[in-house]
Amino acid sequence: MTTIKTNLTKEVLIKLEKHLQDFSYGNSPKELYEPISYIMSLGGKRIRPLLTLLAYSLYREDYQNALTPAMAVEVFHNFTLMHDDIMDEAPLRRGKETVHEKWDTNTAILSGDVMLVKAYEILSEVPSDKLGNCLTLFNKTAREVCEGQQRDMNFETMDEVAESEYLEMIRQKTAVLLGFALQFGAILAGASKEDSQHLYDFGVNIGIGFQLKDDLLDVYADKEKFGKQVGGDIIANKKTFLLIKAKELAKGEDKGKLEEWLSKTDFDKDEKVKEITALYDKLGIKDITETKMTSYFDLGFAQLDDLNISNKEMLAALKDLTQTLIDREQ
Ligand code: IPE
Ligand code: IPE
Ligand code: MG
Ligand code: MG
Ligand code: MG
Repeated sequence: MTTIKTNLTKEVLIKLEKHLQDFSYGNSPKELYEPISYIMSLGGKRIRPLLTLLAYSLYREDYQNALTPAMAVEVFHNFTLMHDDIMDEAPLRRGKETVHEKWDTNTAILSGDVMLVKAYEILSEVPSDKLGNCLTLFNKTAREVCEGQQRDMNFETMDEVAESEYLEMIRQKTAVLLGFALQFGAILAGASKEDSQHLYDFGVNIGIGFQLKDDLLDVYADKEKFGKQVGGDIIANKKTFLLIKAKELAKGEDKGKLEEWLSKTDFDKDEKVKEITALYDKLGIKDITETKMTSYFDLGFAQLDDLNISNKEMLAALKDLTQTLIDREQ
């Protein structure tokens, strides 16, 4: 990932990593807990808890007090990844074997389940005057993530998916959690309702941009840096923005070729990835997707102009972190 430039954010990330490392998820039975320690220790960008901590830090200086609640968001995110990798039949996560590959599917289901419980356990430690509000918002977010995930699965076997349907699907499966992460930090810090809402809207917009980038990387990432299987979305006929645009733009022979690959049930995976990527290249899909991605990040940045805060340094740190999401290679 592009390196974080702001010293403040670097410091927060170090404290967060230490906090995550020191946390015990449980020991026995080890078959239940080892996969949790495994996935949590594989790293990742820690974007969501960082967003919670930076949003909190826009209003207060004692971000240490928000480290535990911020963890809830990261544990929830990792739960979704553990189950997502089963659903997507993904072999790799953060450069290592996925949990269902290293252990088995039943293990990944149950360890994932207990991670969701853990996320709620951690969340329930939020100060009682804020707990009700945080739980209501988190429940809504978690439900939407599942709805988005189901739509993503439904789309795999659908021929036509409209751009608007795709955008709604990624808003749910990915963007609302970034929105919640920010709003959560703001609420914990006692920010106004208006600011919490602006931060949520900022998060949802950059979250949509973030998933567009994820779709792009799935095709165009450097295998060594990416840490996930390149081409997984192509293999599974995922209705990504790239595919939706390609279906829209392909004409004649190209259209026929694309349709043929999408309908094949028995194929060589590498060949399919190579052929569809070549079609994307021919149609200029990368540029089109990047333009779309940038437009959502810009919509997000615009939300920050309406915040009522005096800590310009932290605001700059938040913008810098967001920029790393645009430039990232993993
Ligand atoms: C991957 O999330 C799943 C998506 C919502 C795109 P991240 O790209 O944040 O994964 P890690 O946590 O950094 O590995
Ligand atoms: C997953 O989207 C979003 C989740 C809610 C987990 P993807 O399936 O594209 O995420 P990756 O690419 O496997 O990380
Ligand atoms: Mg998925
Ligand atoms: Mg996946
Ligand atoms: Mg992906």
